[in-house]
Formats: sequence, C-alpha cells, structure tokens
Amino acid sequence: MLSVFLPRIGTVAIWRSRARALALAGVPAGQVLWRIEGDGGSDLFAGGEVAAGKGKALHLPREAIATLETALCHSDPERFHRAYDLVLRLSEGSLRWGDRSDVAMLRLLQQEKAVHRDIHKMHAFVRFRELSAPGATRRAFAAWFQPDHPIVEAAAPFFARRFGDMDWIIATPGLTARFEAGQLSFSLTEPGPRPPPDATEDLWRTYFANIFNPARLMVSAMTSEMPRKYWKNLPEAALIPEMIRQAPARARAMQEAAPTFPLPHVERILPQRPALPEGLSLATMKPALDACRRCPIGGCATQAVAGEGPGDAGLMIVGEQPGDAEDLAGRPFVGPAGQVFDRCATAAGLSRSAAYLTNAVKHFKFLPRGKRRLHQRPTAGEVVQCRWWLDLERKLLRPKLILALGATAAEALTGSGARLLQRCGTEEAGPDGIPVLISLHPAHALRLPDPTARAEAETRLTRDLARAWAITKEA
Ligand code: URA
Repeated sequence: MLSVFLPRIGTVAIWRSRARALALAGVPAGQVLWRIEGDGGSDLFAGGEVAAGKGKALHLPREAIATLETALCHSDPERFHRAYDLVLRLSEGSLRWGDRSDVAMLRLLQQEKAVHRDIHKMHAFVRFRELSAPGATRRAFAAWFQPDHPIVEAAAPFFARRFGDMDWIIATPGLTARFEAGQLSFSLTEPGPRPPPDATEDLWRTYFANIFNPARLMVSAMTSEMPRKYWKNLPEAALIPEMIRQAPARARAMQEAAPTFPLPHVERILPQRPALPEGLSLATMKPALDACRRCPIGGCATQAVAGEGPGDAGLMIVGEQPGDAEDLAGRPFVGPAGQVFDRCATAAGLSRSAAYLTNAVKHFKFLPRGKRRLHQRPTAGEVVQCRWWLDLERKLLRPKLILALGATAAEALTGSGARLLQRCGTEEAGPDGIPVLISLHPAHALRLPDPTARAEAETRLTRDLARAWAITKEA
C-alpha cells in the first residue's frame, strides 16, 4: 500500500497533481492510501515523484474537473480515494461522466451539492467586526465562522472581490483566510480568542430587526435558509427567538392597522348610499377622483382617468380600468385597446365624441416589472369601492343605455358576475332601471393569437356598438 499525504492548504491542487502522477505510473486506486498531512507515516512522494510506469495520462471531461474540485472540499475522509478511483475509470472509459447509477459518481455529485451549499452559507453568514488601528490607511476586519466542510479556500475569493478595499481575516476551526494589501493567503488557524464585538454588530442587529416581517414569518423556511447551527456566530440571531415569540401579536396588530374594505356583498345589502358631495359634476369630477383613496390603487397610479364625453350623452360606455397609456394621458381608451375600440366604433358609425366613455375603476392597477408596468385586474373589493364613482356618473348623466365592455364592467353595472360570453349581446336591467347591454372588451380581441378569432371578436364588438348607438339615437 502506498501512502500519499496531502497538505491542509492547497489540498485539492496537490491531490490533482498526485492523482495525475499516480495514474501515469499505473498505480491502481486500491493501492493508494490518501491522508492529510500531520496524520503520521511517510509520504510516497517525499523522496521525489513516483517513477513513470505503464499507466496513462488522465483525460477527463471539463465538467468533471470542476465538480471534482468542488466535491473534494467535502469533509468526507474517503473522498480522495473515491475520486481517484473514479477518475481512473472515467479516463479508461469504463464509467460515463454523470452516470448516477454508479454509487461513487452519485456520492461525488451529492458532495458537490453539499459543498456548494456550505459555500453559499458562508458567503451569507460571515459577520465582520472592525479591528482598525487608529490612523491605519486601510480599515481592518475579522470574522469567525464554522463551516461544515473545509471550504475556506473555495469561499474566500468571493470576499476578496467584495471587500477588496479593506484588510480582513476570516478564521475557521481549520484554516484562516487573510486578505492584506490586496493579497489573499491562507494559514492554519492559531488557537486564540474570537474578534471582539463592535458597532458593526449593532448595525446588523438593527438591520435584521428592520427587515423582519412578523406577518410573513415561516419558522421552518427561516431555519432552513438560516440553519440554527449558524446562529451562534450571527449577532442578529440573538433577536430571533423573541421575534418569533412576538410575531403572532405583531401580525395581528399590523392587520388591525391596515385599511379595511367592506366585502363585495356588504355593499349590495347596504340600505343607504352616501350622499353626493355638493356641486360635483361630470366636468369637475377629476380632482376629486385624483384624491380618491377609497382603495389602495389610487396611491400608485399617475392620476385618475375620469370619464369623457358630452354631459347629455344618451350612451354611456364603460370599460374595466385605465391601462398604462391612459394612466399617462389621463384619458380613457387611448392605448392599444382604445385603438380597437376606435376601429370598431368607426365601423359601427359611432363617433367617440358622441358617447360618454368611462371605466369601472378609475385608476390604473399594475405590477412593476423593471421598466414595465404589467396590467393587474382589479379585485372585486376595488371594483366595489370604485362603483361609488360609477354610480355617481350614472346618476349625473342618466344615459338611455349603458354598454358594458367586458366582465369587470358588466359586474360593476349589474352586480352579476355570471359568465360573460353567455351574456354578450344581451340587455340586462341595471339597479337604476337603465338597461345595460353586455359586450366584449376590446382588449379581448388583442389577446387572441388567431387572426380569424380576433376578427370575429371585433365584429361582435362592432355589432354591439352599432346596436347601442342605434338604440340611443332612436330613443
Ligand atoms: N382598457 C379599459 O378598460 N379602459 C381603458 O380606458 C383602457 C383600456
């Protein structure tokens, strides 16, 4: 049996050069005992390189090398032996890279994963204490950390990149990483006290207390992301048990402090509606709408989009809510859905300026995604809140007919959320007796990928617009 001793620093690089030399010398895996320096005994390589023999140079797939380098940072004492056996088999072609049915391959891949996870945890949970000497040109920091595996050399370059403008030491039970004047080096950890606490810890405590949201606490998810074993080295972790204890009461208080809206059905059974504010007219409604905070959407939109059209129009047309373009322009139906609307209205012989055009919800509800604002359908509660304005418009306008474009408008105007497609083209009675003609929303056509179906949707909308226009002109 041949003993090969690996140093505690630079272990993986030395294993690689030893494995290549052994493979070239034709030494089978079963004849090598891999050990870490300091374990006693004599090293096969101590008297020079092993003589070249009847073996072959190792040829490994590129991804195998990367995986081996990571997996060899695992703490499993058998890892060097198993890896040497595996590279011999890969190189001679009796094993395929990634073949999980091979026990050694499976173990290697699992250990690679475990090491990656440990490195990730070290990157996330190292906490530095400042140790700068007065007048020093570079600030100095130190941290203590206990990884599960000997990963310090693999994990340290991340800190060198991130904290390149300061000097620091990260001590672990095995190795210490040291970054001084831009140079990264490693040494065996000296026994001694951990760095003293300082203001940096207070900062971490404050930060952690601030980002903690009791209403979203999931203890199992939290302990899986920040396992308990790391808590002893995290200054902020001292706060965790108390925060968990207080979480239910704080969440309750947050809920109580949050604005509440009546459930949709409550509004329907209320015997009284609030009285109309004095002097509010269709023409003067916009500032009051801008200031409306009956639901939270108003706080996010650029402005409210009030209805537009003649104050004596016989036809009122109601959409869902303003879109991105309408929110910016402050006018209804001027974006892509507006173009469909205009096309259909023209085909129906209806001039946009002859009808009163408005929406069930007066503010744009969206989800920010980078520079884009993605349309979000208003909730039933938001529609109910905004119905106060819609009812006001109805009352002030007293149109002969209302055309509801889409499901949101249909529900806001009739109180019924029944399936839209079955109701399209039919007239229903509104609560004030004004008939409501149900139709498709113009955006529906925009969402249809099939050109024939799109044309069909536009034809249906055109037909309803023409019918609504004919009814209101006649009456
Ligand atoms: N969609 C609507 O429902 N209304 C608009 O004003 C614009 C798009």
